[in-house]
Amino acid sequence: MDSLDGLKAELLAAVTAAADGAALEEFRVAALGKKGRITGLMKQLGSLDPEARKERGAALNQLKDDIAAALDARQTALRAAALAARLEAERIDVSLPIRPEVTGRIHPISQTIDELTAIFADMGFSVAQGPDIEDDFNNFTALNIPPEHPARQMHDTFYLPDAADGTKRVLRTHTSPVQVRTMRSVKPPIRIIAPGRTFRSDYDMTHTPMFHQVEGLVIDEATHMGHLKGCLIEFCRAFFDVDDLPVRFRPSFFPFTEPSAEVDIGCARERGTLKLGNYGDWLEILGCGMVHPKVLEMSGIDSTRYQGFAFGMGIERIAMLKYGIPDLRTFFEADLRWLKHYGFVPLDVPNLAQGLTR
Ligand code: PHE
Repeated sequence: MDSLDGLKAELLAAVTAAADGAALEEFRVAALGKKGRITGLMKQLGSLDPEARKERGAALNQLKDDIAAALDARQTALRAAALAARLEAERIDVSLPIRPEVTGRIHPISQTIDELTAIFADMGFSVAQGPDIEDDFNNFTALNIPPEHPARQMHDTFYLPDAADGTKRVLRTHTSPVQVRTMRSVKPPIRIIAPGRTFRSDYDMTHTPMFHQVEGLVIDEATHMGHLKGCLIEFCRAFFDVDDLPVRFRPSFFPFTEPSAEVDIGCARERGTLKLGNYGDWLEILGCGMVHPKVLEMSGIDSTRYQGFAFGMGIERIAMLKYGIPDLRTFFEADLRWLKHYGFVPLDVPNLAQGLTR
């Protein structure tokens, strides 16, 4: 009977020669498939006498195993080589500068939040958060807006179905409930800002059903109206980058502050454009006041010992003023051309040392 050594050498050489997965598969079929060469030899075993058949069968099985092992090894090697080639072909130099024309943009809302956070952080504020879905109690009652109070109508509230335990829920109409949450969870002194989403059922040039506010809250034993004014004047001048920007406090009303004020900044309105600065005209940008003693008490703070101020500001509004964006609705249309025009290049993190925007 002819030896299998020659065949084995031939098959192993063919395995080594297979240049890719397809060639290897073709070889496997030709050697081990139903009509393959080794299978063919196996089929001839029946014509041998028992002794010879046993010996030949064992040798053929050994050959089959050797070839299968060689196939496996070759396949692993080919895969590793393919991966290495791909890694080489797709190599990128991560130290190269980014190409601005192919990178995304930071949305003006994100940029504005980063900027105002940098300014308030510099004054010692930290950032607090609350949920978009709020208890009716935190959004209204704890802020001295009891049920049936007319201020509830003014907010065009989105009401949600009651929670399982009967809690009345709303989409928060302002960031002021974060005041309540903060006073209930941390002991004074408190100095926080709370930027985030707010919701009111309203839609036109200057209103969208979702918009952003930033809340501010300072509570301690000594803070008074002078601190409120100093803090907000400083903020307005830093944010709009106008050193002598006039800032005016006008008496107003909010149920949760007493006294309350609205803040205007100086501007000029000329032929449809708006300029910020000392030009004699005024533009309202935020609401503020000294936190109402009832609000302190409802959140478990001793109003005979502690006092402080709060403010709330529309983020889209100050972004529109600073960056000359005329229509509020465009903020949320996700138009790439708009984003490219009004957006900011990533990695330019706003900070006071280098200027908020570059
Ligand atoms: N929550 C008020 C609003 O949405 C703004 C405000 C906040 C006013 C804090 C005073 C103090 O209009």
